[in-house]
Amino acid sequence: MLRSIPRTFAAINKPSAFAGLRYKHTLPALPYAYEALEPYISGEIMKIHHAKHHQTYVNNLNAAEEKLGSAFQAKNVDEEIAVQSAIKFNGGGHINHTLFWENLAPGSKEIPTPSGDLLKEIEKTWGSFDQFGSGWGWLGYNKEFKRLEIATTANQDPLKPTTGLVPLLGIDVWEHAYYLQYKNVRPDYLNAIWHVINWKTVTDRFTKAQK
Ligand SMILES: [Fe+2]
Repeated sequence: MLRSIPRTFAAINKPSAFAGLRYKHTLPALPYAYEALEPYISGEIMKIHHAKHHQTYVNNLNAAEEKLGSAFQAKNVDEEIAVQSAIKFNGGGHINHTLFWENLAPGSKEIPTPSGDLLKEIEKTWGSFDQFGSGWGWLGYNKEFKRLEIATTANQDPLKPTTGLVPLLGIDVWEHAYYLQYKNVRPDYLNAIWHVINWKTVTDRFTKAQK
């Protein structure tokens, strides 16, 4: 009877049991051309931001998960814990950028605004749409209190695991998102980005978050 216990553990912990659960993350294609957001965000920024920065988060996330898999197989808990920060940073970078690309769309001179229930909810929460442009970070939905909230997160911390809010709109304010074009004048970037917000994706997320 006793002999069967180690065999059971061996079956659960055989290398393929974990390896079979893993898959490689890949860089999602942009739903528009790199230069499609000009003049508000230059094609050069979009290309570097997507093909270099986001790709690096994806590569590092895959490498960190590989390390986690090896640590798991080796039952090396020290190593499993040590790799957590790399998973949080690069996994967050991957999640956040994937959402960010979807939140943007080719712009227009006229700043696009949300409509329907989302606009009503923004007006109810902040009085008018204008007031909600001053911050940066996230527009999220609090499912528990059924309300919109503005939040910021540090580093690449993704909104949901960090705050519990469902991310509707994320604005990347890392220097790499604007420096080549706006240098250190972050407010100019934050003013310009409202021209290229894809309110359809934000509204779709809002509708889904309310269910
Ligand atoms: Fe970024």
